[in-house]
Amino acid sequence: MKQLHVELGDRSYPIYIGSQLLNQADLYTRHIKSRQVLIVTNETVAPLYLDKVLQSLQAYQIETVILADGEQYKTLDTLGRIFDKLLVAKFSRNATLIALGGGVIGDMGGFAAACYQRGIAFLQIPTTLLAQVDSSVGGKTGVNHPLGKNMIGAFYQPQCVLADTDVLDTLDDRQLSAGLAEVIKYGLIRDADFFVWLEHSIDALRARDKNALAHAIEHSCRNKADIVAEDETETGVRATLNLGHTFGHAIETGTGYGAYLHGEAVAIGICQAAELSMRKGWLSRQDLERIIALVRRAGLPVIPPAALDSERFLELMAVDKKNLDGRIRLILLEKIGKATLPVYIDRTLLELTLNTYGRN
Ligand code: NAD
Ligand code: GLY
Repeated sequence: MKQLHVELGDRSYPIYIGSQLLNQADLYTRHIKSRQVLIVTNETVAPLYLDKVLQSLQAYQIETVILADGEQYKTLDTLGRIFDKLLVAKFSRNATLIALGGGVIGDMGGFAAACYQRGIAFLQIPTTLLAQVDSSVGGKTGVNHPLGKNMIGAFYQPQCVLADTDVLDTLDDRQLSAGLAEVIKYGLIRDADFFVWLEHSIDALRARDKNALAHAIEHSCRNKADIVAEDETETGVRATLNLGHTFGHAIETGTGYGAYLHGEAVAIGICQAAELSMRKGWLSRQDLERIIALVRRAGLPVIPPAALDSERFLELMAVDKKNLDGRIRLILLEKIGKATLPVYIDRTLLELTLNTYGRN
């Protein structure tokens, strides 16, 4: 097992990464401070892994809430079901919530934990590649609004992240590729050597080579933990983790949550951001082509949906947490391995990119 740390003073926590972790009761129990434990999961993950977790927690008063599966259910309404369960079971403020699932469950479970009685402890048990490399680490929690992705939420850190790499065996190939989008992101924003390693290892990752996956997860979490430790609430460098996300969130909202997986929308957004970076004169055409080639080889889409024209894109991109005073700000690339902080974008250049990239 590998153990990393997110260093945040008295809110620091470990990330455990390895095989067979769900069976190791001690890894959970050391972070649970009372008898009352609520497990939040969904109808896909529960039949696969809930029993394993329950077996590790036999000494506790356990409640479970099994939510419908899908990005379209990451809503305030669904959150209500978690609060109902906590209240009906008369859970106190020293209760612990365990989020067992992908990023949707982690984001909602974490937000419910942040809100219930103004904050109860929670543990992240991420079960998708995307959640293991990104969403379970760093304390961004929340839900979507019909008008904007992740627009309602809180920063709220877990007690620990437990990433059992064996659970990825049941993940389908499309979901595995979606996770790779966020892995590629780390190489692009701050780790050129990792990008080169990904160019060499992408086939092994898609073939689920255990060593390659373990390396990618550990390396991604290390990058994320360092960024979060430096800038927990995104006043600076943390924004670079949003490379491609303003385009991506527009795609997710504009096509209806769930049509594109989050990782797929981010993959397209990364390519759009890279194209814009080239048009700014920062990224070379050769590096743009390397990025698009790697994203494709990861099994991800690179072309934006035809249904979203530039006008609709701009309308959707106007609802984004990086924008200030209603003006769009984006993360771009100076080169592979170096992202900019949020930059205001000249509207003509943005429109040109939206009208030309992937449109012929
Ligand atoms: P997801 O949670 O919808 O999971 C993807 C699918 O895989 C679901 O159908 C799920 O039920 C299924 N699944 C989960 N684990 C499985 C397993 N082990 N075997 C088989 N099936 C399994 O999607 P995701 O890609 O994990 O997460 C995307 C979400 O994460 C988005 O809502 C996105 O906004 C959010 N996100 C948050 C952050 C953050 O910092 N908080 C970062 C990135 C993404
Ligand atoms: N996924 C973006 C962040 O955690 O900041």
